[in-house]
Amino acid sequence: MVIPRVEQPRYLTIVVCDEDTAPEADSLAGQLELPLWLLGCQNHIVLDDVAQVIVGINMRNAASVDALKLLLSKLPPKVLRRFIVDNGTATYVTRVQANALGATHHVTRHRAVAELRRDLSSTAELAAPIPPAKRALIAAAPGGRSALSAGKAIAGLFEGLVGDRVIDADIVDLASSEVLADVTAIGGERWLDTVRQHHESTFQHCLLVAGVAATYAAKNGLNHYAAHALVNAALLHDVGKAVVPKQILDKPGKLTDGELSVIKRHPRAGYDYLKSHAELPEAVLDAVLHHHEALDGSGYPDGLKGDQIPPLTRILTVCDVFAAIVEKRSYKSAQPTTSAIMTLVDMALRSRVDYEAVRRLASAFSIPLPQTLEELAASLAQPTRAQAS
Ligand SMILES: [Fe+2]
Ligand SMILES: [Fe+2]
Repeated sequence: MVIPRVEQPRYLTIVVCDEDTAPEADSLAGQLELPLWLLGCQNHIVLDDVAQVIVGINMRNAASVDALKLLLSKLPPKVLRRFIVDNGTATYVTRVQANALGATHHVTRHRAVAELRRDLSSTAELAAPIPPAKRALIAAAPGGRSALSAGKAIAGLFEGLVGDRVIDADIVDLASSEVLADVTAIGGERWLDTVRQHHESTFQHCLLVAGVAATYAAKNGLNHYAAHALVNAALLHDVGKAVVPKQILDKPGKLTDGELSVIKRHPRAGYDYLKSHAELPEAVLDAVLHHHEALDGSGYPDGLKGDQIPPLTRILTVCDVFAAIVEKRSYKSAQPTTSAIMTLVDMALRSRVDYEAVRRLASAFSIPLPQTLEELAASLAQPTRAQAS
């Protein structure tokens, strides 16, 4: 039997099985969208790219154990080894056997899909409780209380998607109100600073987009309904990232085509979940689904163009790009707001994002821009006095 070649991202997770466990492992791999490695068969997976293995073999089968030992010996020591262990009376025996084979983690058989989904996504990071001392520190910072409640709402959303649970839209709406109130009171810059100091990666990104959206809404005088819709959409927009493995989300540097295709699933995953598990306005759902579209049709998931992208979605896209630039990651420092606006201006000139939304966002952060894209292009075409002389 030959397992078909799969397009694989680097930092891959594979499910290892034997003939005895193949049907169960195949179902697990299918639900988690992971490639399968069947011991004793020809597998087309580059072992150098494997970051973790999920082992689900019959540990009473000596031939399978030997084949597994051989496979594990070819993997670097840093590769995570998650072993599926039995529950009930066999728990102790299978755990001891797994440990003898180098298990770094155990996964309980009857909860394997839910446990692995959670461990493979960024949900574990988001759902981890904040220690009391750190909580107190955040609460004392400017805008800290609304950052905490918005963070709690985001963690609930990610957990809800992974656990396939209904979400309470009121919690998201309440968090939006608190963020809007704090941003209006202390200013967007200070609120963003608090988030950057205390939160990391996906968590930080979702909060920053909410803070940027609240700044846009507050400074541009959006009415109550529009402001809430925008901040709600910002809090919800990347919930689909719960299905993206954390190694891909946090990977520094360029992503492979395979990794990009996994990342590009997140808008639809978030939309599908929210549409079926919450009562949300159509404009908010559209913003979640289409926040990576571009006016020239080069975006995803649907390649929409121009007027096919509604105003709220265009504004969210601009806030999302801005937040990604001003956020601090393990592999990049936070860029100033002027850099974010310069990038957005460049994108508007290349017909990627809506210039009106860029201009309004820039003005919310006290950066004046010409009224129209034509005026902006003309001002850039004019030589400066120094260049002319
Ligand atoms: Fe996104
Ligand atoms: Fe985003």
